Amino acid sequence: MSATVVEIVKASYLKTKPNDETLGFGRTFTDHMLVMDYSVATGWTHPRITPYEPITLDPAAVIFHYGQTAFEGMKAYRTDDNRILLFRPEKNFQRLNASCERLSMPAVDEAEVLEYLKQLLIVEQDWVPSSPGTSLYIRPFIIATEAFLGLAASKEYKLVVILSPVGSYYQNGIQPISIKVEEHYTRAARGGTGAAKTAGNYCATFNAQTKAAQEGYSQVLWLDANEKKYVEEVGSSNVFFKINGEVITPELNGSILPGITRLSVIEMLRSWGIPVVERKVSIEEIFRYDDEGLLEEVFGTGTAAVISPIGELEWQGRKLHINDHQIGEVTQKLYDTLTGIQTGKVTDPYNWTVEVK
Ligand code: COI
Repeated sequence: MSATVVEIVKASYLKTKPNDETLGFGRTFTDHMLVMDYSVATGWTHPRITPYEPITLDPAAVIFHYGQTAFEGMKAYRTDDNRILLFRPEKNFQRLNASCERLSMPAVDEAEVLEYLKQLLIVEQDWVPSSPGTSLYIRPFIIATEAFLGLAASKEYKLVVILSPVGSYYQNGIQPISIKVEEHYTRAARGGTGAAKTAGNYCATFNAQTKAAQEGYSQVLWLDANEKKYVEEVGSSNVFFKINGEVITPELNGSILPGITRLSVIEMLRSWGIPVVERKVSIEEIFRYDDEGLLEEVFGTGTAAVISPIGELEWQGRKLHINDHQIGEVTQKLYDTLTGIQTGKVTDPYNWTVEVK
């Protein structure tokens, strides 16, 4: 693949890099970013690497009024021998295009944008942290930039990729978190945009998330919009339940995000011979399994959240405590194997990693 950016404008000063020990999630950004523009007349043009800087947009830009936008979340990892690895990056660009399709936005050339991203990562390679649990989070996003207040898809867009060195998404690292099942609000409805990675799905969660945080919970668990019965997602993650030796995760139904970590977990479990099923699963069923002593492990999966064990679930005033608030055996094995593959510490039997060079 020979696609190259047309221009690299270097930042006139370079920021001081944070210590790996102080890294949280998503507050520090690197020196450069990737930008590309689209218009109906030209298609995607002028891929370039520029200093990390504010974007100037017309106040009438469609993104500000109708939220026409899509984003991705991916990570670059530093190996012990100083190589930089991406994890299944082609899946992120496929999903970006699926989101664009749902939101009437133009598709990108997946292979080309991956090449541009690699060039950005080469410029920013010193920003990829090396301590355990750290990585360089990659946030590609597309925004609708046409100045037009009529209710129609924009004819102009900007793709931007920014980079942020990160540690753990949750304050307490891989310690099991407490989750409240949300009974009033819903995240996404069937036929809506739930399966797309778009801003509106996420800001729709803030009020429930704030309320749950005030009550001492880290995240909320979302139920389906129709019946408030079936489990959909947890906060920014997909969710898995290990019940009597079998792992269950909600099936993709159009309102659940098709997570790449979710897919990887399913594939790892299958390759280990652990039964895993994707199906509708009700919250009532989960509580019943717990009553019967069959609920063994619960965990969330996501690029930011990696594999995050869940130690407590609250629903209709009832609380269940999972695996004595300890990390389950399968959860730990998934975490170790996934992060081991991502950082090159464990052989990658699935060919998931892609080296940046
Ligand atoms: C990710 O896991 O990459 C996400 O996009 C989650 C983000 C909303 C914090």
